[in-house]
Amino acid sequence: MNSIDFVIENPLDGKLKEANFITALLRDFPHSVFLKPTSYCHYNNCNYRKRTVFVTTLPSFNPHPPCPHNPCKRWVSGRPHKTSVLSLSKADRNCIPNGLIDEEIDAWMSATPEAKVRVFLDVFGGYGSVTKRVQQMYPEIFTYTNDIARRDTNDVELDIRTFGLSGMVEFAAQKLLTQDDLQEARNDYKGGLLRWMKLERGVAFLFHLSTPCETYSTAAGGTHRKSGDATPVSAKAKNHDHMNSVIIKWLRRHALSSGAQ
Ligand SMILES: C[S@@+](CC[C@H](N)C(=O)[O-])C[C@H]1O[C@@H](n2cnc3c(N)ncnc32)[C@H](O)[C@@H]1O
Ligand SMILES: [Zn+2]
Repeated sequence: MNSIDFVIENPLDGKLKEANFITALLRDFPHSVFLKPTSYCHYNNCNYRKRTVFVTTLPSFNPHPPCPHNPCKRWVSGRPHKTSVLSLSKADRNCIPNGLIDEEIDAWMSATPEAKVRVFLDVFGGYGSVTKRVQQMYPEIFTYTNDIARRDTNDVELDIRTFGLSGMVEFAAQKLLTQDDLQEARNDYKGGLLRWMKLERGVAFLFHLSTPCETYSTAAGGTHRKSGDATPVSAKAKNHDHMNSVIIKWLRRHALSSGAQ
C-alpha cells in the first residue's frame, strides 16, 4: 500500500502546472502522478465554471473533464453560466464543490483499501470547504486542518514555509495519538512519527493542498510572471515557487520514493 497520497489544486488556466517543479514531477513519475482537469460547473449546480486542475497520486480520481469542451448541463441548456469567479465572495471563490470532494475521498479509499486509520491533512484549509465536507460525509476519517490565517475550521495556524509538511504531521500526531503512543514512537523510531504511524498503526495519509493561486492565475496579467510562461518576476511569485518546490521535494521523498515506504 502506498500510504501517502496528495492532491494539489489550482486553476486549470493558471501557470502552476507549467512551473518547473510540477513539470519535472509529472515527467519523473508518469505512472504515479497525474494531472486531472475539471470545472466546477459539473457539480452541485454550481453556476460558475471555475476551471481547475489537480496534480495527484490518486489514479481513480477522475473528475468530469472541463467545460466547455465537455459542456456541463447548464451550458448545453443555454442558461446563464458565470465563467469568472471575480464576482463571488472570497469564501465562495475558494469553495470546492461537495461532489468533487466526495470523488477525491472515494478515490483515496479505493487506492488504500488496507488502511486501518485515515488521516486527511488540509494544508491550506482556507474557509474550510474541504474539511467541512470530509467531516460531514466521512466521520471515520481523522481530519487535521491548517491555514496561516485564523479560520473556524483550523486545528492549527502554521506558516507552512517554516514548519513544512513534517511539522504539520507532528502537530496532527499530537491530536491523533495518546501520550504513550507518542512516547513509543519517539523512542523506537528514528524514521519519525510519520513512519511510525504508517508501519505501527496502518495509517494512510492524504495531503490536500489548495496552494494559493494568486501568483499563478492568469487574471494577474504580467504582474507576477512573465507573459507566456511561468517564470516568476515578483517577489511574491518567487516566494510561492519556493514554498511549493519545497513541498514537492517533501512529497517526492515521502509519497513517491519506494525506499521511504
Ligand atoms: C486557495 S486558499 C484555500 C482554499 C480552501 N480550499 C477553501 O476551501 O477555502 C489558500 C489558503 O492558503 C493560505 N496560505 C497562504 N500562505 C500560507 C502559508 N505560508 N502557510 C499556510 N497557509 C497559507 C491562505 O491563507 C489561504 O487561505
Ligand atoms: Zn459549464
